Amino acid sequence: MSNERLSASNLGPATLGIHGEETDSPPGSPIVPPIMQSATFHWASPADGELIYSRFGNNPNQVEVGRKVAALEGTEAAGALASGMAATAMALLALTGVGDHVVASSRLYGATQKLLTLELPRRGVDTTFVDPDEGGWEEAVRPETRVIFIEMPDNPTLRVLDPRPLVALARERGIKVLCDATFASPVNLRAASLGIDMIIHSATKYLGGHSDLIAGVVAGPQALVSEVIAMSHLYGPALDPHTAWLLDRGLRTLEARIQVHNQNALEVSERLSGHSAIGRVIYPGLPSHPDHKVAAELMTGFGGVVSIVLKGGGAAADQFLSALKIAVAAPSLGGVETLVSQPRHTSHAGLTQEEREAQGIPDGFVRISVGIENSQDLIADIEQALEVVD
Ligand SMILES: Cc1ncc(COP(=O)(O)O)c(C=O)c1O
Repeated sequence: MSNERLSASNLGPATLGIHGEETDSPPGSPIVPPIMQSATFHWASPADGELIYSRFGNNPNQVEVGRKVAALEGTEAAGALASGMAATAMALLALTGVGDHVVASSRLYGATQKLLTLELPRRGVDTTFVDPDEGGWEEAVRPETRVIFIEMPDNPTLRVLDPRPLVALARERGIKVLCDATFASPVNLRAASLGIDMIIHSATKYLGGHSDLIAGVVAGPQALVSEVIAMSHLYGPALDPHTAWLLDRGLRTLEARIQVHNQNALEVSERLSGHSAIGRVIYPGLPSHPDHKVAAELMTGFGGVVSIVLKGGGAAADQFLSALKIAVAAPSLGGVETLVSQPRHTSHAGLTQEEREAQGIPDGFVRISVGIENSQDLIADIEQALEVVD
């Protein structure tokens, strides 16, 4: 039993986040890998053709972080790139070409939507968006469809789509399913176990975890990951070795941080439910969430983001953000500090009010990336800021 537990596939994320990249550790080798801040590396002999070059993703710090992410995701391989968007873009460019087609959820991060609607058509690739509430995935698929792209949970409405029927459809038709699981992290969602072919993270968020780096990762079978990294050789979004080292350091505390994010977000969401200034509290861990059952079945935790809709609309949301004393009004998410933003000023600023409302984002919508501060301090801060708008 104990030896079975110690095989890599049975180790918990807390152990893998700390030891997941280790191979041989001869006596005297450092406990913490050194930063290999070098663009290139010595050849063994003048005839050695192997090119270790930091744009190619084979710098030791890049390799270590890839190995650790693969261990955390339970995939054969993973590769690290210079941002979450680099990961998404390289994956889509690697898997599609002129005449190909993508089917995508209509609930995607704004820049991913733009990539699909503005950039991929310039490469001869067309996308059909499907509203997961309305369905129609099968009708959207064409003979030339190469990729189905989804996000779990999505930003900022935190809807959780069950990918299993899509995976079954994709398997039948030889299509790859890509999932941006940034909001879940590998601690809350093991997407590969649901049949997802390639998992993408903005490692800027929970994987790095300290709002001090920009990075992205792709995880999946070796052949797919290699295709994506090969594409990055040409476009060039390599992860700098120092940033790879910082990301590796973030991964060492991933599970511990995620547990506190999960717990704090649940406490915040429960406490705010029914508050007189709030029309709606959106959190997959609340039974009132439309996808609570799916989330409870597929995820081991509900994540660190809670969204609220203020009854007083946009003006109340502006006032609420200004009144916060501990939580910080700023974009991004997944850091140790609580970050609060309004999609109407950030990710969804390009849409009309009606278009935002159709996506479930009215003007009083506020996204709270609940950090790992003391939960009672956070609740006190949020409640005092709500008094200003109540
Ligand atoms: C769900 C999601 N995917 C991808 C990205 C892009 O990541 P990056 O900013 O690291 O390029 C973001 C950024 O906010 C995101 O929220």
